[in-house]
Amino acid sequence: MSSQVRILGIAGSLRRGSYNQAALRAATLLVPENSEIDLFQLDGIPMFNEDDETCPPSAVLELKKRIRSANSVLIVTPEYNYSIPGILKNAIDWASRPHGDNAWSGKSAAIMGASLGAIGTARAQYHLRQIFVALNVFPLNRPEVMIADAAHRFDENGHLIHEPTKRLIQELLKHLVDWTRRISPAPESTSASSTATARHPLSGGVPA
Ligand SMILES: Cc1cc2nc3c(=O)[nH]c(=O)nc-3n(C[C@H](O)[C@H](O)[C@H](O)COP(=O)(O)O)c2cc1C
Repeated sequence: MSSQVRILGIAGSLRRGSYNQAALRAATLLVPENSEIDLFQLDGIPMFNEDDETCPPSAVLELKKRIRSANSVLIVTPEYNYSIPGILKNAIDWASRPHGDNAWSGKSAAIMGASLGAIGTARAQYHLRQIFVALNVFPLNRPEVMIADAAHRFDENGHLIHEPTKRLIQELLKHLVDWTRRISPAPESTSASSTATARHPLSGGVPA
């Protein structure tokens, strides 16, 4: 892969004033040298319909293109009812389809999340890790970035003001870049390499 590590950043909230969007913006300023975070907004992605998966809407084609041209992904997720929000799962599902054309396959990934409460999205993050197994995504295990009590860690303009959280995000991104260099093929060859890992044992030999 080229020396520059390109990370696609996606936040799972459409809310104006979202803490998770704010955490993702903060991350763009905390990446190590020779890496960058490009942002993708989920607001143009319609609801998934399997009837349309072979001819997806342009926003989905763009999402899949952006995932494939990145070396890695950073997902910043709120916790909704102990899981990830529907808009995030919806986008994940679109980009994993149709069968055999899973844009996520083989990517390295990191997870962060911010919540108002004390749990800091832990339950949602562990659900996302389970989903990553289905996607053949390779998440970084540590550090875990679970931003609790978000109302006191960001100011009224959405700036991250909590120095220990900044340092933790910095550490996460450094490890993500190292991890990505260790495990990732070049982005151009990702779709080809995905076929090597894509034969699901339950698929009857059909590439996943
Ligand atoms: C439908 C819904 C379900 C929620 N469920 C949880 C939850 O299970 N755990 C939690 O800590 N916060 C929960 N919250 C509160 C969110 O943590 C809070 O709204 C947070 O600010 C959302 O992220 P955002 O600021 O990026 O939009 C929920 C909020 C909504 C709207």
